[in-house]
Amino acid sequence: MPSDRLLSVLTCPHCPAGFEHIRGALRCANRHTFDIARHGYVSLLTGHRRAPSADSADMVRCRASFLGAGHYDPLARTLAELAGELAAPDATVLDAGAGTGHYLAAVLDALPRALGLGLDSSVPALRAAARAHARAAAAGWDVWQPWPVRTGCAGLVLNVFAPRNGPEFARVLTPDGALLVVTPTARHLRELHGPVGLLAVDPRKEERLRRALETHFRVESTEPLEYTMRLTAEDITGLAGMSPTARHLPAAQLRARAERLRTPVPVTASFAVSVHRPLRTGQ
Ligand SMILES: C[S@@+](CC[C@H](N)C(=O)[O-])C[C@H]1O[C@@H](n2cnc3c(N)ncnc32)[C@H](O)[C@@H]1O
Ligand SMILES: [Zn+2]
Repeated sequence: MPSDRLLSVLTCPHCPAGFEHIRGALRCANRHTFDIARHGYVSLLTGHRRAPSADSADMVRCRASFLGAGHYDPLARTLAELAGELAAPDATVLDAGAGTGHYLAAVLDALPRALGLGLDSSVPALRAAARAHARAAAAGWDVWQPWPVRTGCAGLVLNVFAPRNGPEFARVLTPDGALLVVTPTARHLRELHGPVGLLAVDPRKEERLRRALETHFRVESTEPLEYTMRLTAEDITGLAGMSPTARHLPAAQLRARAERLRTPVPVTASFAVSVHRPLRTGQ
């Protein structure tokens, strides 16, 4: 459930009014009302619109179990360290496409009085994100749409393997705020492309990221992070199940392919972690 400070960050998606908290719901001055779900998140999506790219319950289950096994902990640590350098200890942190809230929680641990809000359009992801951290809340939203969030309220925006909305990232950040983006490189999980059929990273991804952000941001730094994981068949099934491949291949087929491998399989994790600063008008 959002705290009063986080409540002041949200705006009604129907009108620009802010919210008050009444009896298990958020209500704006014009009486538009959004229930807080039993699981603690608030869905501001209206008309049951769900982004087609939202993660399914199975994908979220796979993500929670793979991340819980610690294989991406070096990435969580890198994000937490960077957040500690980039944002004030009491910053508001927004996570676009937060998933289970795993990285938002790691960042909040590094910023002792910060509050976090995860936006996602997947109900199972929101359920997990709402309880990811005592100082985090979660709201159902399609990040491609204009966000129900106040202009200039966030010291830090996170975007980890999730859809990007450059104009909204820039609008919601304070002028001295920062956007932290994680993208997989072409080497990410390369050992699993052939044997398991994991889809390779589109080589034009970096170019797409640059183009999505260049009108509103300048790149301050890009840090590579690469290491070898040693994965069991269960890890690989989970990894495949949370990846875009899961939308194309049935889970049983992915599991059968993973079980044919000699485990533990050394698998490359390879990310680019970039820091972006909003351009000042006229820059
Ligand atoms: C690959 S997952 C990454 C999740 C999380 N950032 C992580 O790394 O663990 C992408 C997330 O974006 C969400 N998503 C996809 N399209 C979205 C959209 N248009 N609006 C909001 N969330 C979206 C999915 O539901 C999913 O949780
Ligand atoms: Zn309203």
